[in-house]
Amino acid sequence: MVNYKIADESLAEKGKEALYIAENKMPVTAKVIRKRFEKEKPLKNITIAGCLHVTKETGILARTLKAGGAEVYLCGSNPLSTQDDVTAALIQEGINVFAWHGNTDEEFYWCIKQCLKAKPNILIDDGGDMIVTAHQEYPDLISSGTIIACQEETTTGVKRFRAMDKKGVLKVPLFPVNDARCKNQFDNELGTGQGIVSAIYGMHVLFAGKNVVIGGYGHCSSGMALRARGLGAIVTVTEVDPIKALQAVFAGFRVQKIEDTLPNAEIILTATGCKHVIPPTIEMFDKLKNGVILGNLGHFDIEIPTKELYEYAKEIKPIRQNVEELIFPNGKKVYLLAKGRLANLVLSEGHPSEVMDMSFALQSLMSEYIVKNKDSLKPGMLEVPTDIDDKVGFLKLKSMGIEIDKLSEEQYNYIHGFLEGT
Ligand SMILES: NC(=O)c1ccc[n+]([C@@H]2O[C@H](COP(=O)([O-])OP(=O)(O)OC[C@H]3O[C@@H](n4cnc5c(N)ncnc54)[C@H](O)[C@@H]3O)[C@@H](O)[C@H]2O)c1
Repeated sequence: MVNYKIADESLAEKGKEALYIAENKMPVTAKVIRKRFEKEKPLKNITIAGCLHVTKETGILARTLKAGGAEVYLCGSNPLSTQDDVTAALIQEGINVFAWHGNTDEEFYWCIKQCLKAKPNILIDDGGDMIVTAHQEYPDLISSGTIIACQEETTTGVKRFRAMDKKGVLKVPLFPVNDARCKNQFDNELGTGQGIVSAIYGMHVLFAGKNVVIGGYGHCSSGMALRARGLGAIVTVTEVDPIKALQAVFAGFRVQKIEDTLPNAEIILTATGCKHVIPPTIEMFDKLKNGVILGNLGHFDIEIPTKELYEYAKEIKPIRQNVEELIFPNGKKVYLLAKGRLANLVLSEGHPSEVMDMSFALQSLMSEYIVKNKDSLKPGMLEVPTDIDDKVGFLKLKSMGIEIDKLSEEQYNYIHGFLEGT
């Protein structure tokens, strides 16, 4: 029996088309790994709960985990990122889904709890809400050993778990899949960069010649800065880390304090994982240029001060789905994307399938690794083994028909030795 609560079962045909497109662009997850999983069933008798953006790419991951023998449960990791057509197609394939676009905070946690009630053995989280809920409300799942280990997909979630670990309250073995090279150097940098471009294009806004401010110069934000510049925007970066700021300077970007950028910025985009990148004061709001577009791509809706902007606005007018015009008391208008939530996922379709292929190949192989090593995993922050990261890299290259050199024994010994010098 499939367990589910979704928006509209009649959208299944549309969802199948979306999955078909992703399937063909994700050869490592959908073909290579799945084929082996189908034969070997490494996830037999294992229940996996994913709190992820329920997009077509996540559907491909769910299919691969199921092919490996797992019972799969999915819920959304953001109230606005679920693709309702995809959920309708997935339940027809026996994947348990509790997710719909536009759920309230209460419904969001209800969906997480439905997945936890299935007594999962592996949690794959994106942002940390499911694993934190398991600690707070389902401690028996942890103390009984039902949960073998967990995987975290994004930077913000990893930061939350590092903080828990430091305090000694992280009670599960935790693999920060986000930190693998095959994840954050592609998904975060390329995916977010391209995602914001397609989200803003959807508003028919020209980047060329615009003053674009990018909050942060980390994995996601540097990708966004590069893509915006590639489209002809005049890009300014804001940072709090001196090294990142220097990297931005030497990459040719103007670097300024956020406050100084506000009067001229025509588009402001954040992806820092920090709150209040634009300080939430009326003084700052009044500095914003009339007509500025505000968008956030960081995990939570706190980088652009959404709540405070809503409170300050005298009128909030939806001008298209998930784009609002906020009119300030002085008549100034600003345009808020996606209610301050991940604009690339809410306004566009999220990351291109090609990059998600690597992220979800890692999640698939790490699920297998957890089952194989379940007796030796200890609670706390662990690392994705380098050989799994490398394997995904090699498989991706192979799927693209690209071969690379291999170290000879002599070369290997040279770069790992110290005797050979001048
Ligand atoms: N939208 C998406 O699809 C998507 C994809 C991956 C990650 N994320 C999220 O994006 C956020 C950033 O992830 P990342 O991997 O780029 O992290 P990162 O750590 O690589 O980069 C964050 C950068 O922001 C800077 N920063 C922090 N506070 C700042 C502030 N107040 N003002 C200016 N700069 C500040 C940091 O110094 C750092 O350089 C996280 O919340 C992550 O979960 C979103």
